[in-house]
Amino acid sequence: MKILVTGGCGFIGSNFIHYWFSRHPSDIIVNLDKLTYAANPESLRDLDNNPQYQFIKGDICDEALVDKILSDGIELIIHFAAESHVDRSIDDPLLFVKTNVLGTYTLLNSAKKHGDLRFHHVSTDEVFGALPLDTDEKFTEDTHYDPRSPYSASKASSDHFVRSFFHTFNLPVTLSNCSNNYGAFQSPEKFIPRMITNLMDGKKIPVYGDGLYVRDWLFVEDHCSAIEAIILKGKIGDSYNIGGLVKDYSNLEVAKTILSIMGKTESDLEFVADRPGHDRRYAVSWEKIHRELNWSPSLSFEEGIKKTVAWYQENEAWWREAKTEAEAFYQRLNATRSK
Ligand code: NAD
Ligand code: DAU
Repeated sequence: MKILVTGGCGFIGSNFIHYWFSRHPSDIIVNLDKLTYAANPESLRDLDNNPQYQFIKGDICDEALVDKILSDGIELIIHFAAESHVDRSIDDPLLFVKTNVLGTYTLLNSAKKHGDLRFHHVSTDEVFGALPLDTDEKFTEDTHYDPRSPYSASKASSDHFVRSFFHTFNLPVTLSNCSNNYGAFQSPEKFIPRMITNLMDGKKIPVYGDGLYVRDWLFVEDHCSAIEAIILKGKIGDSYNIGGLVKDYSNLEVAKTILSIMGKTESDLEFVADRPGHDRRYAVSWEKIHRELNWSPSLSFEEGIKKTVAWYQENEAWWREAKTEAEAFYQRLNATRSK
């Protein structure tokens, strides 16, 4: 099978390409990536001499380029490319409209011209909004959309476009809405790698607000296996929620777990100004994908987080440049937040 992966030089896309080749080595993967600040081609350096792999630097909003790629035998698109960071969406919402809405539309419109091309859209649990603390409530596939940040609003819009192309044009689509991923190759702008790399640099962990926000953490390779299950066995037109946890962990608990693994103390925590519009709690019911496609996460949070800390400790060359860029971004953002 010949597959177009978009955004393959990002965190989940690069993990997915490694995962897919390990399971389907005779498939061909074309990776279309614009190489924004979030990309790191080093994540895929080991594929340089793999004849099954092709990299194309380009923008998913470039209709002529996407048409050309799709006309060269692509059978399946797995669409990861996006602006993915909530804090950056507060800083520059229009960029999120362009990439996440217009980019997804461009891919869909081009796929429609190419007949039966299968389209898998990688989306987020953030489209469902925020849950209150101290409830057992979880997001299901039937939870109504209630996005609250420019990032989640742009992803919600892209989800609606994907479904509209299924209903209106019979494009064979599937969607997944996944919770917070962590693991190797994640940009140090995101909370877990930011904490690890800050501690490695002798800096404190910046905890937004009261730290009692809850995220549903999933080891990235388990997200990859869930997408594989949907591609191989999912029902066309359906969406699947993907999550990892069976109990809530607050950001503060996650931070303390990392402090303990890295031999640090709570004096290395720093409470900082909160993110505007900060969603209080995410929790995902993955009952449907478990029941229908027999998927479950393979790693507990305790196992995954130890592997992740070790990976960042062993791969400073991979993250150092991105860390400098991310901390410069935060410095600029903090100046606006403390006003
Ligand atoms: P990321 O920011 O690490 O990577 C995004 C990649 O997309 C980068 O390589 C970037 O260069 C590329 N890209 C951005 N704009 C592009 C454009 N216009 N054309 C081509 N390529 C472009 O993101 P990620 O964390 O790997 O997330 C991947 C997808 O998964 C996103 O759609 C995101 O919404 C979704 N998702 C992420 C998480 C998470 O926890 N990270 C959870 C659920 C869903
Ligand atoms: O839920 C899925 C989403 O998870 C994905 O769709 C997004 O692409 C991904 O970025 C992630 O969004 P979050 O906003 O939840 O992730 P982030 O790592 O930015 O923040 C996680 C939590 O930690 C959140 O409650 C904010 C908090 N935080 C974050 C940073 C960067 C801090 O307390 N301090 C920080 O320095």
